[in-house]
Amino acid sequence: MSLTYCNVHFSQQLNKVAYLSVPLMKQLKLTGKKSFHLKLGKEVITAAIKPIKRQGNHLYLSAGIRQTITVPKAGNVYVLSTGEDEVQLGPLIGVLTDSDVRSSDTPFGPRTGFIKNLLRLGTNKAYFFAFTPRDINWQEEKVYGYFLNPQGSWYRKTVPLPDVVYNRLPSRKAETSTSITSLRERFIRKKIPFFNWSFFNKSDVYKLLDGDVEAAKHLPESVSNPTPEKIKELLEKHQFVYYKPTAGSLGNGIYRLTYHPKRGYFARYRRSGSNVLLRFNNFKSLMRMLESRHGNSLSRYVIQQGIRLVEIDSCPIDFRFHMHKTGKNEWVPAGIGAKKAGRGSVTTHIKNGGSLMTPEQALSRTFGEKSKEVLDYAKKVSIKLSEAIERNYPHMLGELGLDIGIDKDGEVYMFEANAKPGRSIFKHPALKEQGMTSLSYILEHCLYLSRFRRRDN
Ligand SMILES: Nc1ncnc2c1ncn2[C@@H]1O[C@H](COP(=O)(O)OP(=O)(O)O)[C@@H](O)[C@H]1O
Ligand SMILES: [Mg+2]
Repeated sequence: MSLTYCNVHFSQQLNKVAYLSVPLMKQLKLTGKKSFHLKLGKEVITAAIKPIKRQGNHLYLSAGIRQTITVPKAGNVYVLSTGEDEVQLGPLIGVLTDSDVRSSDTPFGPRTGFIKNLLRLGTNKAYFFAFTPRDINWQEEKVYGYFLNPQGSWYRKTVPLPDVVYNRLPSRKAETSTSITSLRERFIRKKIPFFNWSFFNKSDVYKLLDGDVEAAKHLPESVSNPTPEKIKELLEKHQFVYYKPTAGSLGNGIYRLTYHPKRGYFARYRRSGSNVLLRFNNFKSLMRMLESRHGNSLSRYVIQQGIRLVEIDSCPIDFRFHMHKTGKNEWVPAGIGAKKAGRGSVTTHIKNGGSLMTPEQALSRTFGEKSKEVLDYAKKVSIKLSEAIERNYPHMLGELGLDIGIDKDGEVYMFEANAKPGRSIFKHPALKEQGMTSLSYILEHCLYLSRFRRRDN
């Protein structure tokens, strides 16, 4: 197995001959050979080869060859010699996504900008394209992909199934549909690495980490589908708890429940765009309110010990650790945003009045000079948590968004793990660069998974 870089040229000849510069022939151990196997994504063809006297690594592909295997474009790309006269160009990387609202300029709706940035970054490192589930032809094993030209506009091209798929399908609902489930399984059956697998449910992640001693100590005590007795017990034990839908997001349906032995029970939540705080004399009336608002769907709720988060001006702060796997297959926190809750809000989501800041800004008020130490510790924990999630999860993961709380003693807790994290933290001017770093990790990890990256260093 050897990896090199070469310049691909398109020629107009109709024959099926590939011309390789002598140095490239040598590197790919093809000197003296009359034919080779040319691979792109999951497709392989056999073609005649001839040497051409030229310095450097050059490969000339005739129109005849390109009719049988659609190499997306001329220019620099990696070449992997997989042995036995087989040469692979690529990698061919597909970003799977979709959108309900779309136009020819924005085929992926609000995600188009993100996808463009990612594809642009990969320009000289891979054949990078985006596609939707509708663009796959399983019979012919082809994808009608969206490619980006140097001017930044889209063009379509039919290519073989890719070497690796980065999954950014947007909706939780769509993902559980049978068609998407079978789509994922088809990729796996064809041995095409597919990450990330799907959205997580909160209770699934808690269950995943339950037996993992190292990770479990950073999870607030959590119980899925708790009985009223259990809710009462946790309230008395911790004085405050979070009660949240296991498949929820964006703070929807979340309650912060508090218990004061003398004053009774309190429920704080968001109702039609504003924050409400209700008091109940007894536990029964609190439960009656929750049941009247949610009925049977409370069976899909999780109760969780409340963590006393660091605060600024009495507003709690939590953190988004945007984790990536690198080109060496190791987890790193690529970006960290701090989010301050809006006044009276149960969560820190921006749409509920929260505001974004850097972790340094957020921690300095509480920890002063010790902030760096606290943040370094939280980074270590975020890596440990990601490794533990991955270890206990049956599918491939390459990216995670961890919602992390730091309490007033500097102890670190995870509230939830998002398998397809949003990118809103990267809108903060001080975090833009981390946003770019995050994109480059996606690319590097794709190179790693497709084996287009040396694994020995
Ligand atoms: N156990 C908890 N203790 C303290 N704050 C919490 C707890 N659980 C959630 N929160 C707050 O609520 C926010 C939203 O909770 P999270 O579990 O991330 O749900 P969502 O899926 O709606 O984002 C967190 O980011 C945090 O600010
Ligand atoms: Mg969250």
